Formats: sequence, C-alpha cells, structure tokens
Amino acid sequence: MSNIVAIANQKGGVGKTTTAVNMAAGLALKGYRVLCIDFDPQGNLSNYLGWEPDDRPTISDLMTDAAQNRMDNIPNAVRTGNENFDYIPSDIALASADLFLSSVMCREQVLKRITNQPLLQQYDYILIDCLPSLGILLTNALTAADSLIIPVQAQKFALDGLGQLESVYMMVKENLNPKLEIAGVLLTMVDNTNMSRAVEDALASAYGDKLFTSRIHKSVEASNSTYEQRSLVSRNSSRLGNEYRSMVAEYIERS
Ligand SMILES: Nc1ncnc2c1ncn2[C@@H]1O[C@H](COP(=O)(O)OP(=O)(O)O)[C@@H](O)[C@H]1O
Ligand SMILES: [Mg+2]
Repeated sequence: MSNIVAIANQKGGVGKTTTAVNMAAGLALKGYRVLCIDFDPQGNLSNYLGWEPDDRPTISDLMTDAAQNRMDNIPNAVRTGNENFDYIPSDIALASADLFLSSVMCREQVLKRITNQPLLQQYDYILIDCLPSLGILLTNALTAADSLIIPVQAQKFALDGLGQLESVYMMVKENLNPKLEIAGVLLTMVDNTNMSRAVEDALASAYGDKLFTSRIHKSVEASNSTYEQRSLVSRNSSRLGNEYRSMVAEYIERS
C-alpha cells in the first residue's frame, strides 16, 4: 500500500513543485520506491524532471479515462526521468478538467481510482504536486491522499488564504476521506528579514508541532536546479539539498 501525500497551497510560487521533486528524491535516496504525479496543468514538475511532450498518456488522459472507468493507459503513463523515482507528467489539457469532471459521477474520486490501481500501489510513496487553485482537482488530490504537506513562503501575505485551504481540507476529511491528515507545514524561501521571522512566528503559533523544524532557505540554487533539471537533493554540496534531506528525515520520523 502506498503512502499518498498531496503537496498543496492554492498560492502559486510558494515552493510546491520544488518540494515535491526534492522530497521524492530524498525519499528515493533512502531506498523507497517513489512516484510523483504532476497535477498542475502548467506542468512545472514534468519540466523539472526533463519531460519532453510525446505521444504517451499524461495525467489528463488518465483522468479522462478513469472518469469512464478505463485504466489500461496507466502503465504507459509512468515515466522514469533523470532522477531515481518515477513520475506521471501533466499538460495543459488538465486545465479543462473542471469541465469534463462536472458531469462525472463521484467526480472527487477520479484520481483516487487511478492511485488505487495495483501498479501504483506498488510504490511506497506517491507524491501529488497540486495546482495553485482550490477547485475540483485539489479536491481530487485530497480525496486520494493520506496526508497533506503545505509549503508556505516566508514572505508578506503568506498566511492569507491558509484558512480557505484548511476549509477545503476539513470538507474533504469530513465528507470524503476521513483518514486525511496534515503531515506538516513547511516554511520555504526563508531569509534574514523581519518579515520572514514574523511569518515563522505566526506559523509556529498557528500550527505548533505541525510546522516542520526543518526549513528551506531562499537561494538561487532552487531556480538553477529547475533550469538544470536536476534535484537539489542529488547534489552533495547544496545547502537547499541538505535542508530538503533533513525535511525528509523529519517527515519519516513523524509518520
Ligand atoms: N527555497 C527557494 N529559494 C528561492 N527560490 C525558490 C525556492 N524554492 C523555489 N524557488 C523558486 O520559486 C519559483 C516557484 O517555486 P515552485 O516550487 O515552482 O512553486 P509552486 O509549485 O508553489 O508554484 C521557482 O522559480 C523556483 O525555482
Ligand atoms: Mg508548482
């Protein structure tokens, strides 16, 4: 049985994709079998992992199929990238999911039908890199997941909107997926400013020990890593790589 983790925050640019890739690489380094699902129509995770558009199915194809109870495309959708874990890429077609899911029965459970398939259940961890929105795709991710990790950027307005995300989390937990838990809140892009410290204090009082002790500093290493299509964790002398390794150790210890 896989442990399924959704990495979500409806704000863009808070470090979700960077966290998904580096958490996956960190878990794989510890010997776990890991699958990442790119669940954002922008396809940033696919890009980070070196994916080039091809004729094979993406997560949007799998969602369309699963809405009609077809699962035969799953094996062909799983890719092995530059890193030591697998992934399912996404493309812009996922953006029309709202439309095609609107008429589907049990439309919150379509991704769960996919992750429930034996081929995917062979992974120790499935990480879902969510899109920056609170719509039906996020609900699908939270319905498929066992837990939720919320990256929060240590910048102004960081806490705005977290209440809305929590409402969606509670709605899914109460109505669709009782086992769903918040695995942790991860502070990202930390720097040496009063604003950064203020966000950290506010998160510590709002989330207590749900706030990861490991935090991710702001560094140009992150964008270099995306550009070079190679995880931070796979580099020996990367500060952010070390921080993500320590976040993964903390995550494993807690779960
Ligand atoms: N710790 C960090 N320090 C500096 N820049 C970062 C950091 N983490 C991510 N970034 C950069 O910020 C941008 C948004 O990060 P990303 O992980 O794509 O966020 P999201 O998936 O939430 O939109 C990217 O350009 C990424 O390279
Ligand atoms: Mg992203």
